[in-house]
Amino acid sequence: MENNILDFDTVCLSEDGEGIKIIDQTRLPGEITFLTLKTDEEIWRAINILQVRGAPAIGVTAALAMYVLSLSMPKTSYADFARVFAEKKAYLDSSRPTAVNLSWALKKMEKVVLDHEGTDPSELIPLLKEEALRIYREDIEVCHAIGENGLTLVKKGDGILTHCNAGKLCAVQYGTATAPIYLGHERGYNFRVFCDETRPLLQGARLTSFELVSAGVDTTVICDNMSGMVMKKGWVNAVFVGCDRVAANGDTANKIGTSVVAAVAKQYGVPMYICAPTSTIDLSTPTGEEIVIEERKPDEVTEMWYKERMAPKNVKVFNPAFDVTDASLITAIVTEKGIAYPPYTKTLREMVEKE
Ligand code: MRU
Repeated sequence: MENNILDFDTVCLSEDGEGIKIIDQTRLPGEITFLTLKTDEEIWRAINILQVRGAPAIGVTAALAMYVLSLSMPKTSYADFARVFAEKKAYLDSSRPTAVNLSWALKKMEKVVLDHEGTDPSELIPLLKEEALRIYREDIEVCHAIGENGLTLVKKGDGILTHCNAGKLCAVQYGTATAPIYLGHERGYNFRVFCDETRPLLQGARLTSFELVSAGVDTTVICDNMSGMVMKKGWVNAVFVGCDRVAANGDTANKIGTSVVAAVAKQYGVPMYICAPTSTIDLSTPTGEEIVIEERKPDEVTEMWYKERMAPKNVKVFNPAFDVTDASLITAIVTEKGIAYPPYTKTLREMVEKE
């Protein structure tokens, strides 16, 4: 029987417990293949070239990474262990700049070490394993809760548009923006989903539509420049997208093109919902202005996916991986703890602090 992408965790501990097992997302949808990552270089590269990607999945990978790497850190003294731990943490933190879940998870893992100052390294390792597995399990629960909350915003038969991949492949299971779609699908909502193909790396066409088709959801891929048309036709009742970092004022960084979708949604009166675990809300970043936006290589725009280069050799290329959607364009931010509405400066803080 053929493998179904929905049957596998996007990221988990490998069977021997000494590595991180990921679905190699650069090979999808053509092939479902798995990679086992063991060294810091392998993990850094896998995040950097998007073999594992999407804010929550990057966070879980980072947490598991710190445990896996701790297995080969010096056991001579707490000080030696803590020094190498800090070096590896800083190295992994440099793999991608925009998704806050990366530094969020790394800090959580580091806290285990700092909270146990002076402890023998061999006793720290099981604590690190426990924390990494807690972050992994929490991701599954959080996405499920986002799904339940998001589902209250739509009705049976609705058309939903999504951009990039905030699906199962951006988390361990369910995803964030797709969680309401999966739960609704199980409950007979019969959604019609439009996936923006999402230039230049095609996460919508390659990943989101692949997942949703595998689940049996009515799915249509559109080019990024078609969202205005489908919204004008009245085919879209809600936009659900994920995000990589939410600033304290509700400005939200997500895959490049999200801000265009938000502007078009406003024009046609379609609600724009951002699905975000509270770990993606960064209260220390006041507004979208301060969010560091990753820029990637020009050939993703000019050459990748094409049989031959599609732009002149000496042309300038601007390839930001994310953009910031102004809080004013966002109808609500759906978290695992509830739904935040404007004014976001107040409601996001309440959401983060809620038990
Ligand atoms: O460059 P990517 O593929 O990692 O970008 C991912 C996105 O922009 C997702 O929408 C975002 O990480 C949210 S996933 C819940």
